[in-house]
Amino acid sequence: MSLSERDQKHIWHPLTQHFNAAAPLAIARAKGALLWDENGKDYIDGIASWYTAMYGHCNDHIIAAVSEQMRQLDLVVFTGFTHEPAVRLSEKLMEILPANQQKIFFNDNGSTAVEAGIKMALQYHFNKGEKRDTLIAFEEGFHGDTFGAMSASGLSVYNGPFEDFFLKVVRIPVPQENTIDVVTSKLQQVISENECAAFIYEPLAQGAAGMKFHSAKGLENLIRLCQQNDILCIADEVMTGFGKTGKHFASLHMDVDPDIICLSKALTAGMVPMSITSCSQRVFDAFLDKEIAKGFFHAHTYSANPLGCATAIAGIDLLTSDAIQKDIRRIEASHVEFMAQLEGHPKIKEARSLGVILAIDLVLEMDRYGSLRDDMYKYFMSQGVFLRPLGNTIYVLPPYVITPSQLKKVYTAILGMLEAI
Ligand SMILES: Cc1ncc(COP(=O)(O)O)c(C=O)c1O
Repeated sequence: MSLSERDQKHIWHPLTQHFNAAAPLAIARAKGALLWDENGKDYIDGIASWYTAMYGHCNDHIIAAVSEQMRQLDLVVFTGFTHEPAVRLSEKLMEILPANQQKIFFNDNGSTAVEAGIKMALQYHFNKGEKRDTLIAFEEGFHGDTFGAMSASGLSVYNGPFEDFFLKVVRIPVPQENTIDVVTSKLQQVISENECAAFIYEPLAQGAAGMKFHSAKGLENLIRLCQQNDILCIADEVMTGFGKTGKHFASLHMDVDPDIICLSKALTAGMVPMSITSCSQRVFDAFLDKEIAKGFFHAHTYSANPLGCATAIAGIDLLTSDAIQKDIRRIEASHVEFMAQLEGHPKIKEARSLGVILAIDLVLEMDRYGSLRDDMYKYFMSQGVFLRPLGNTIYVLPPYVITPSQLKKVYTAILGMLEAI
């Protein structure tokens, strides 16, 4: 029996309707920007496995750091104990995070980083004796699949069974250059009509919505307005963090810092799951009290797993290295050049890029998981390129170590697909 056949017996896959889903492809190994299936065919990982493996799969520097850590200390309870990898990681993060961030709280994945961020914001007001029950979020945002995160997500096409149980969320549109005033007034109205606790947003790029971008100046206005009203701003940088937008964090494109930041995915470079919710001193201070219940009673067993911390430290070494910064600039320039080549293409509605993120909207209308979208996916795989179109948006978010010739192969596959459909 092949691995794919054995898989079908007992495994329930995420985001999959098993009634009619094709058998999954078995991946046997990975290195750099490449994946190999069980028959030895290779594929370029054009989305860095959901934007995690940004320094390349099975990166030698990361493997060395994790292997060394494994021999030294595995998991130890993180309530009442601490350890070098966690402390070192906190110090490394302080060097690159927006200047106001002072404390880090450990979680397991992007959704739980968001969940902790939302709970921090709600308890921040509760501890101050205020009852604030409303979250503000962007239309079409995506923040994960746990309840708080799902509630905040505007992209809730598949959340039907759960909607009756959601938190109270009021949505505003994302600001574009020409709608900054309209969206700012809409926010003003939402603030005046509700008891708002927090504003949660994917800064500058909404990943799951189809890599949709918005105005940094517009977002900056919204953050300022929220902060004037003591509404905590939660930047969900699970997708954008660690260099994707060209800066270490998307929040650094603005002159005002968020109160809370959610990090995961590239934090641990595709090696082990981990996430962090960071916050400012002001947020942390609201939990300090003689009364024990004012503390943040939220924990995950694997908090600050030393292997995750070692991976994240090694990842930050790489992110801040000249070599990776040069790769980021090279990919940025290459996307811009490719977009110029696409200009005026009859099948393209819009092409855009930000940092290493490239997105191309096709003129064709199609369902998020429709058959035309599946045909595009199959075409890319037949060309040895792994891309997962989001409806009619094709996006590329490659590992920083993708070589120029591999990146060219991705572009060629896109051009070929445009001919084929
Ligand atoms: C912006 C954002 N937030 C949160 C999440 C959820 O992360 P996870 O899948 O690790 O729970 C994602 C996942 O794609 C994301 O893109």
